[in-house]
Amino acid sequence: MKVTVVGAGAVGASCAEYIAIKNFASEVVLLDIKEGFAEGKAMDLMQTASLNGFDTKITGVTNDYSKTAESDICVITSGIPRKPGMTREELIGINAGIVKEVSSNLIKHSPETIIIVVSNPMDTMTYLVHKSTDLPKNRIIGMGGALDSARFKYRLAEALGAPISDVDGMVIGGHSDTGMVPLTRLATRNSVPVTEFLSEDRLGQVMEDTKVGGATLTKLLGTSAWYAPGAAVSGLVQAIACDQKKMFPCSVLLEGEYGLNDICIGAPVILGRNGIEKIVEIELSDAEKTHMKESAEGVRKTNDLL
Ligand SMILES: NC(=O)c1ccc[n+]([C@@H]2O[C@H](COP(=O)([O-])OP(=O)(O)OC[C@H]3O[C@@H](n4cnc5c(N)ncnc54)[C@H](O)[C@@H]3O)[C@@H](O)[C@H]2O)c1
Repeated sequence: MKVTVVGAGAVGASCAEYIAIKNFASEVVLLDIKEGFAEGKAMDLMQTASLNGFDTKITGVTNDYSKTAESDICVITSGIPRKPGMTREELIGINAGIVKEVSSNLIKHSPETIIIVVSNPMDTMTYLVHKSTDLPKNRIIGMGGALDSARFKYRLAEALGAPISDVDGMVIGGHSDTGMVPLTRLATRNSVPVTEFLSEDRLGQVMEDTKVGGATLTKLLGTSAWYAPGAAVSGLVQAIACDQKKMFPCSVLLEGEYGLNDICIGAPVILGRNGIEKIVEIELSDAEKTHMKESAEGVRKTNDLL
């Protein structure tokens, strides 16, 4: 199993590290445009192999796509991250050009690959890959919901005073501060709805904290986060590589599901060896339907900027 990660920055390197530590891939190629940068990150990571006990071979290359040939999975993290006070949507001008060029180069050398888009604004960048390549829709996946759901579970556990392993929950919708739809109605602690334990007000706070999860970290760190994004990507890569048939909310091209068409937005999907093997349609409440519709309008506004 060969995985390429484009962009050896904070998220790309963290993603390569988590993939290697989980020890399911034979090879990870890190590619960056900055001379020597990916080579340096790869060498540093390889020097953790004996300490962390993995056999995955990590190599770094400067913009040489021939080294990415025959990759089973390619992850795109190249582009600029947001700075404090910025929205993900403001990154579109620079990142659209990068994502378009990178995806075309990747497909030239790995026509059978599955692409995972991470660069922001992620739903629009995923849509751009659909529009600018002829990969089938099951092989283009946007990573946002897996991260947002992890942040949701963190906030739920905090509110419940419970260990995170007791908590389950999912965030669908657009990967933006206003677009996320945390499904509090369906979240549980050991199969018991969290609504049994938390007041409407407290759950409202959990939702708000989840939606601004990325912005909160960007303010604290001065740039966007990388550990949880890297771990979330590695979860998607592992589900595909190991044909796990796991369910994650991912940005996927909808064709009628959830009443939406011609848009990439977060919805639950089953991930396996063929990428997106199924889009799971769950019955939403009226309030959730409205929230999802508003979220889609926000994503479409950013798509229009393309
Ligand atoms: N989808 C998500 O949940 C999520 C989460 C966190 C960050 N992000 C996004 O991921 C992207 C990367 O964030 P980061 O913190 O790693 O940024 P970073 O600046 O640390 O790394 C980006 C890297 O991309 C490289 N790069 C730029 N243009 C390139 C090109 N044409 N080809 C190859 N490499 C190129 C840069 O040299 C840099 O090393 C940002 O757009 C950020 O907003 C998304």
